[in-house]
Amino acid sequence: MLKEDFYAMKKNGMPISMITVYDSAFARMAEAAEIEMLLVGDSAANVMLGMNKTAEVSMEAMCIFTNAVKRGAPNSYIVSDMPFGSDSEPKAALQNATRLIEAGANAVKIEGLPLESLRAIKEKGIDLVGHLGLLPQTATSFKQVGKSDEEAEKIFEQAKVLDTLEPCSIVLEHVPEALGKKISQATNAPTIGIGAGSYTDGQVLVMHDVLRMHPFKLPPFAKNFANFWEAGVNAFCDYKSWVRKKILY
Ligand code: KIV
Repeated sequence: MLKEDFYAMKKNGMPISMITVYDSAFARMAEAAEIEMLLVGDSAANVMLGMNKTAEVSMEAMCIFTNAVKRGAPNSYIVSDMPFGSDSEPKAALQNATRLIEAGANAVKIEGLPLESLRAIKEKGIDLVGHLGLLPQTATSFKQVGKSDEEAEKIFEQAKVLDTLEPCSIVLEHVPEALGKKISQATNAPTIGIGAGSYTDGQVLVMHDVLRMHPFKLPPFAKNFANFWEAGVNAFCDYKSWVRKKILY
């Protein structure tokens, strides 16, 4: 798919699915399911590397994850997160975005509005994905943002500025439904919500929540569509018991 296809989906009222993936096996699964956008999220820090914050994942690691996803899903539209600090000034931002594209991404996602960096990347013809609302790289709390009129107005204005850069999409994280709706109606770019209500042009969730790959409490907006945690622990227990009984050969 191309950026234009996502704009056409918005125009035709066809919701866009995005899901995070970080390796070849799950990328292959997402491609088989024809998910329109695969996100190599910096949530890899938490769900793949066991770190505490998304800000801890390195540029090198993001390139390795992106490359693995590209191998598993060669025909999918892949968006890779620019890790924390990699986009703070335009020259480095362009170099880092180029590395992710060379590793297999079709677009890079940037949190917030580092305008000069966004412009430098766009000018080189690299597809951008914005990310507004709750910004996990710098957030000190994971509560909903944009609740006050002032905060909502600020996020709305940021979305309008971002829209002038014609991003491939704008991710809106953990904002009130009314704000998600207002932004989605005001932008040409498709909005992809995660905890932003039902009026965004698409939705994104973290793969490990969708498949229930961990025993932890889910964020309020996440949903399970399977229980890989239970299936996996049971399979490992069965495996162990076969080894103990010496019936595996
Ligand atoms: O890194 C990530 O998983 C994300 C999603 C929360 C959108 O940015």
